[in-house]
Amino acid sequence: MINQTILASLEANFVAHYGQKPKHVFQAPGRVNLIGEHTDYNDGFVLPCAIDYQTLIAVTPRTDKTVRVVAADYANETDEFQISANITHHPHQLWSNYVRGVTKHLAMQGLQFDGLDMVITGNVPQGAGLSSSASLEVAVGEMFRRLGQLPISAQDVALNGQEAENQFVGCNCGIMDQMVSACGEQNKALLLDCRSLKSDLISMPTDLSVMIINSNVKRGLVDSEYNTRREQCEEAANILGVKALRDVSLESLNQNKHLLSEVVYRRAHHIVSENQRTLDAAQALTQADYVRLSKLMAASHVSMRDDFEITVKPIDYIVSILNELIGERGGVRMTGGGFGGCVVALLPADLVEQAKTLLAQRYHAQTGYQEDVYICTASQGAGEVILSREI
Ligand code: GLA
Repeated sequence: MINQTILASLEANFVAHYGQKPKHVFQAPGRVNLIGEHTDYNDGFVLPCAIDYQTLIAVTPRTDKTVRVVAADYANETDEFQISANITHHPHQLWSNYVRGVTKHLAMQGLQFDGLDMVITGNVPQGAGLSSSASLEVAVGEMFRRLGQLPISAQDVALNGQEAENQFVGCNCGIMDQMVSACGEQNKALLLDCRSLKSDLISMPTDLSVMIINSNVKRGLVDSEYNTRREQCEEAANILGVKALRDVSLESLNQNKHLLSEVVYRRAHHIVSENQRTLDAAQALTQADYVRLSKLMAASHVSMRDDFEITVKPIDYIVSILNELIGERGGVRMTGGGFGGCVVALLPADLVEQAKTLLAQRYHAQTGYQEDVYICTASQGAGEVILSREI
């Protein structure tokens, strides 16, 4: 569901900048990962769903190669560049580099397409681990794909977005965020095999609400910790003689423990055990086995905290508050890249208000941070927004 207030102000902003209404609006959602953290770049499994918070782009095609952009959420900063395979970085606007990077990497594939005038906005919380950057990359890619009738698939849009983020923006992220933003489905989570890119749709249980709690501890992904974790995983895979940690069983990891440093062993232990938990959680969701689900999500959090060391104290605190309340009626864990960001909870609808009250009573008092709570539904991936007006 698109927020109509945001849509109306996006269109008004477009008129203010370009003197006419936009011909199209495209959207791409953020995502919440239910389980399977940092497994994507290890060729493993993830279980995210797209959420009903999106990046929106109002656009009118041009007949030349000029791209003009306004970033509504960055004080209407603007950018302008020509479509080519030689697009360079913007000197100081980070948001521009996502737009430039996606455009450049499409052009590098030899695809031919024209320029456009656009205004970008969105309501995916930024720097919160809900993939605001992937949703921007996918929205831009999807827009060019549709308007230019490019001979590529939604999956290609995702891969192009990841390539742009790896090679142009400089974060070595995996494929999870872009894939679910491009290919998510209403009321479904995506059990994605990040090696083959095959996915199974897992129905979200109708009796559980998806609650996202933003700790408001800010994180940045273009930051060394993420890339360091990735290097440690690659080191483990190299020493163990496999292509990726996906290929390692818990048994063989433990047999070869002596070959790895203590830290690298713990990193690998998280990945290997998390892969299995992700497969098990998909099954538990399908069978509505919430006792098992709650154990798996709790174990995932502990593994991120102790083995992968990507949680922070305020996040651990939110998880402990909610664990106490939810017990075995759902599950709770940190979600996303880590070092701040969000917690995801799957819980019965009748516990939502109590959860909010408990957080309001305790979180700020204990940590000094103020939480934001979002109740989400699993949503459709990127596409064109049908406008309810004549254009
Ligand atoms: C970020 C990355 C993803 C994934 C997660 C951790 O969101 O963009 O590719 O690695 O962190 O699961």
